[in-house]
Amino acid sequence: MGKGLLGIEPLERAEIEQMLDRARAYQFHGGGPQPKLTLCAGRLVVTLFFENSTRTRSSFEIAAKRLGADTLSITASGSSVSKGETLVDTLNTLVAMHPAAIVMRHASSGAPHFLSRHMMTPIINAGDGTHEHPTQALLDARTILDRLGRLEGLRVAIIGDIAHSRVARSNVHLLSKFGADIVLCGPPPLLPPQMAVIAPGVTLEYDIRKAVKDADVVMMLRVQLERIHEPAIQAGEYFRFYGLRLEHLELAQPHAIVMHPGPINRGREISSEVADSQRSMILNQVENGVAVRMAVLEKVLLQ
Ligand code: CP
Repeated sequence: MGKGLLGIEPLERAEIEQMLDRARAYQFHGGGPQPKLTLCAGRLVVTLFFENSTRTRSSFEIAAKRLGADTLSITASGSSVSKGETLVDTLNTLVAMHPAAIVMRHASSGAPHFLSRHMMTPIINAGDGTHEHPTQALLDARTILDRLGRLEGLRVAIIGDIAHSRVARSNVHLLSKFGADIVLCGPPPLLPPQMAVIAPGVTLEYDIRKAVKDADVVMMLRVQLERIHEPAIQAGEYFRFYGLRLEHLELAQPHAIVMHPGPINRGREISSEVADSQRSMILNQVENGVAVRMAVLEKVLLQ
């Protein structure tokens, strides 16, 4: 069926390297107007989001437009999903309009995988439940490579709500394929022991100070309250034990960078002093989102 991008886990390292290299070619370093290409002219990219998004949806649209493709943006609240249409019927309706690819975000893990088994149109996973967010991991890798020049041998601490994080899962799969040492850290209710075995090179740590010690990369994650019915820890207590503050960065490598996929919750998982510091790559990640999604769309649309 359609060959899109459903996750990082099934990819070969060479495929990831190819997309990261291509994304580098698409990074924009100048001021003034951005070049508009015609590579994907005449192709339609549909973005179909059943969960909210600022970064992913907008950057996919910008990426598609820069490649010369046409775009159509649909959100669940503005569609006939709110009138009771099933997911399959919604997808079949869109496929009848002959898009070249569908970029899809859904609250259910595995939703894009299920659909891609039943339709020829390539599906790009823009986040499925707690499962994967492949383009986020690609743009995170591009950002680390830009700043630190390698992934192999790096100590990457991923801290926060690991249990509900598709960003953590995709990053673990990618970083593991490139030989990074990955430390997952969070409070026990948000860091299940089985996370240690999803890929080689992963260790679990429940103390943020130990997780950050000697880290090259500190990646913070939001607590996903929309997926938690009864939070085990109150916001103030969470920040006290797992919020990243300047004092923690003194334990990391002198060149350590701080990342966060966004949206950030200041004063909950990260202090404003850290989020706005020179070490913060948060906006570099957003910028790389466009370049990486251009590389992904190019690969999917021109295959
Ligand atoms: N990082 C990320 O997926 O952000 P959005 O939810 O704003 O797309």
